[in-house]
Amino acid sequence: MTFYQGQSLADAVREATAVLTDAGVPTPRVDAELLADHLLGVGLGRLRAMLLGDTPAPVGYRELVEERAGRVPLQHITGVAYFRYLELRVGPGVFIPRPETESVVQLVIDHLAGVRKPKVVDLGTGSGAIAGSIAHEIPDADVHAVEFSTFAHAWAAKNLEPLGVTLIQGDLRDALPEHNGTFDVVVSNPPYIPAEAIPTEPEVALHDPPEALYGGGADGMELPTAAAASAARLLKPGGYFVMEHAEVQAEWIAGMLRRAGHWNDVTTHFDLNGKERATSAVLASTAPDE
Ligand SMILES: C[S@@+](CC[C@H](N)C(=O)[O-])C[C@H]1O[C@@H](n2cnc3c(N)ncnc32)[C@H](O)[C@@H]1O
Repeated sequence: MTFYQGQSLADAVREATAVLTDAGVPTPRVDAELLADHLLGVGLGRLRAMLLGDTPAPVGYRELVEERAGRVPLQHITGVAYFRYLELRVGPGVFIPRPETESVVQLVIDHLAGVRKPKVVDLGTGSGAIAGSIAHEIPDADVHAVEFSTFAHAWAAKNLEPLGVTLIQGDLRDALPEHNGTFDVVVSNPPYIPAEAIPTEPEVALHDPPEALYGGGADGMELPTAAAASAARLLKPGGYFVMEHAEVQAEWIAGMLRRAGHWNDVTTHFDLNGKERATSAVLASTAPDE
């Protein structure tokens, strides 16, 4: 790459867009703008206005574009992921939160409307996106979060401490036994990808941690099944469980919950793209057998 030195911002962003397009980046223009804004710190609106003038390209832009052309996730380069109302710190070792998970948070918020001081736990919190959003949007909620990866736990601590979330490093399968039967909501976006379904995008395959992706077992269902069992253990009777999953897993997960015998109102939910990406259920009033 020989561009950008002494170039105008507009020309540099145009060339960066071409470089990112050639590299197969799915949203090249927006990424080129966001990388420029990462250096200039003016916000996208102002940056777009500056593209109409003769502002020079910022120093260091070329290096960032090269990194992104190597398919390093944009959020690892900028160090920030936007999720609902939060600006989360992210980087190597933690799963980048996805827009579809914002719909899962909305299900929790809607369910808890009018409930005073609800007690909520997020199993496999990663960056803390779900737990942090609930704490932010329901200020009187008592929010807990569980994460077993040391790296992800460190990112979650940065994001969740200022929001007053109680974060523990532990395994979602047996975490928080002292809180059994006390939560109003258990929410989880567990790893669920089947062992053989290796993602094709380099950003995911090479940069999202494997322990955040693969659910265990040929069908990826070990950790989602474990999350459901933990939810039955942690919830109070009548408590609400909601879990994200792949579209193709919706029917299997609904069947798994119905067969368990202690869930009512098993419901599949659509994300903003109309895909069946989450399932909720309400714990029956009688205690689960397991
Ligand atoms: C798909 S990521 C979701 C992260 C975050 N909740 C989100 O929605 O962006 C799954 C997370 O679960 C964590 N995890 C995997 N196995 C776990 C286990 N047995 N106990 C606790 N956390 C686990 C991973 O490290 C990862 O952070």
